[in-house]
Amino acid sequence: MAEDEILVVGGAGYIGSHMCKYLRRRGYRPITLDNLVCGHRAAVQWGPLIEGDIGDRAVLDRIFTGYDIKGVLHFAAYTSVPESVADPLKYYRNNVASTVCLLQAMVAHGVRPLIFSSSCATYGDAGGKALTETHPQQPATPYGRTKWMVEQMLDDFGAAYGIRAVSLRYFNAAGADPDGRIGEDHRPETHLIPIILQTALGQREFLSIYGEDYPTRDGTCVRDYIHVEDLAQAHHLALVRLLDGGAGGKYNLGNGDGFTVREVLDRARKITGETIPARIEARRPGDVPMLIGACEKAMSELGWRPEFCDIDAIIQTAWDWHRRHPDGFADRDKGGAAG
Ligand code: UFG
Repeated sequence: MAEDEILVVGGAGYIGSHMCKYLRRRGYRPITLDNLVCGHRAAVQWGPLIEGDIGDRAVLDRIFTGYDIKGVLHFAAYTSVPESVADPLKYYRNNVASTVCLLQAMVAHGVRPLIFSSSCATYGDAGGKALTETHPQQPATPYGRTKWMVEQMLDDFGAAYGIRAVSLRYFNAAGADPDGRIGEDHRPETHLIPIILQTALGQREFLSIYGEDYPTRDGTCVRDYIHVEDLAQAHHLALVRLLDGGAGGKYNLGNGDGFTVREVLDRARKITGETIPARIEARRPGDVPMLIGACEKAMSELGWRPEFCDIDAIIQTAWDWHRRHPDGFADRDKGGAAG
């Protein structure tokens, strides 16, 4: 029997590439569309790569006519919260306008199932509580607003054109492929765990801790770190449901537990055995004190069972990747902020 072909937009990026590996293992054929602004050619190992942009309708038409695409997984977005504050135009153009183009093409070609990479950045301040899916959506940054806009568009496109979408609101994606073949490689890197590990490798002089005067247990921001492999598992479960004709929905994906910047640093010091120097600096624009997800809905409705819940396991898999690939993927010449 032919394998189901799934279009993975942003499949050369961090989460997208882990998804392609997971899909392949489950008997699908991932077709990656990626403009390689943030993604890496070397990360596409489990199916063909089409180099192009989701804002390019001609490329999308070629893919939807050339392959028998059963569903779409959409990872192609810029993801840096501080960058979105400094350059919102880049975020609205790519994350919102280009997604309109993708959705138009899906409607035109009669492809209805879509899994959308949303974010907990769509929520308003939870006042220190774990966020459930019913918490008001009041994003604090342009990045969060782009994700929330697309979620609303998907509701409208569902009602009008029959698009069936699952929006997955990630908390802080982290970790790397347990087999060590792929991992996190953003250029420049802005995320906490890879920056800590680059410091452990001596590639940075010190870690900047952005603010120690937040209303948290040690004054640094609290985040809920979720392993990239567990994100892939949730996407697969959502995809199966949509391909079986099931309904869309919106789900948090996190571990329900938060760690401060200092706590993550301490764990990383133990795991790497390195000192990892750190300095306190000013708060970073767009940061909120605490983001923790209540994720029971994904567990009960999708049957999601995260396997790498321990922060040490998350840091350990990331460390294994960084240690073995100190220069990341073999395309160091590239720029771009996120992916
Ligand atoms: N941090 C530092 N020093 C650094 C980097 C980060 O102190 O060098 C701090 C940040 O200030 C923040 C925390 O570590 O308090 C986590 O920062 P990240 O940049 O790793 O992650 P963010 O929480 O800012 O954002 C990430 C993704 C978003 C997603 C969000 C959900 O980049 O796409 O998680 O929480 F929406």
